[in-house]
Amino acid sequence: MAKNTFNPIISVEDDGLYIPEVGAWGDEKYKLLGGYSDIFTTGMKNLWDSLVYIDLFSGAGFARIKGTSKIRMSSALIALSAKHKFDKYILCEEDDKCLNALKTRVSKYFPEANVQYINGDSNKNVEEIIKAIPKHSKDEKVLRFCFVDPFSLNLKFATVRKLSAVGKIDFLILLALHMDANRNLFNYINENSKKVDEFIEDTAWRDQFKKGQLPIKDFIRFLSKKYDDNMKKIGYVEPVKKHQVKIDDINVPLYYLAFYSKHERGNDFFRKVEKYLSPQQSLF
Ligand SMILES: C[S@@+](CC[C@H](N)C(=O)[O-])C[C@H]1O[C@@H](n2cnc3c(N)ncnc32)[C@H](O)[C@@H]1O
Repeated sequence: MAKNTFNPIISVEDDGLYIPEVGAWGDEKYKLLGGYSDIFTTGMKNLWDSLVYIDLFSGAGFARIKGTSKIRMSSALIALSAKHKFDKYILCEEDDKCLNALKTRVSKYFPEANVQYINGDSNKNVEEIIKAIPKHSKDEKVLRFCFVDPFSLNLKFATVRKLSAVGKIDFLILLALHMDANRNLFNYINENSKKVDEFIEDTAWRDQFKKGQLPIKDFIRFLSKKYDDNMKKIGYVEPVKKHQVKIDDINVPLYYLAFYSKHERGNDFFRKVEKYLSPQQSLF
């Protein structure tokens, strides 16, 4: 990484507060998130009056890399650490242990930051989150970046669709397609499961698999394309290739990080995150 480039991997000491675990692949996620936050705030700070960061699944602020003693700042604190600050941070988290630890850490490391916390299920709280997002006006031009980092497919497309209606808002979304979709396909094919229906906002998706028009092995590809199509329908440009995160040793895919912007310039920015990754993790 070039000198002066923001390093999103920020090692910290155990501070005695709650620290959840994350797999070794967490670092890749942190590099992409931190890289984009850095590029976004640096490139946009003079062009917009207000830059807003929204984290729908914030976590506790620190995370321990599983099987090691390494502790890192996680998503919200990485975004707060970027050289140029966002004007507002909206941090959402449903787990009280995580949220309390996050609040304490933010007050300790970033006492000056303008932070609003939203406690609870982000899918259910979407109207409250929208209220918290500053609106664009003739006096104030507002640009937002939303990081979406669920454990599973527990993200309703309706949540993303409603947030996108606030105006200019880029999304970096962790699509837990291999972690969750692949492992649970047979549960999802069952009509009683609503998870995939809500993830892609489509209740008829099973038909193509049941009629044999699509082979089961194409399930992940189908979900990935469907997600892009959904985003295009709500005004997003063709996304750049998704970054696939794999388990290091055995080359098994785990999840995709997908970036969506309403403007080609967002994609240009996202392509630049390449420089935050090591060569074997490259994006394209
Ligand atoms: C995969 S962790 C991500 C943590 C963090 N973004 C990071 O950088 O490591 C998902 C977090 O979302 C929280 N969570 C899970 N479901 C949620 C929901 N429906 N709404 C808000 N938070 C949720 C969990 O408690 C957990 O802290």
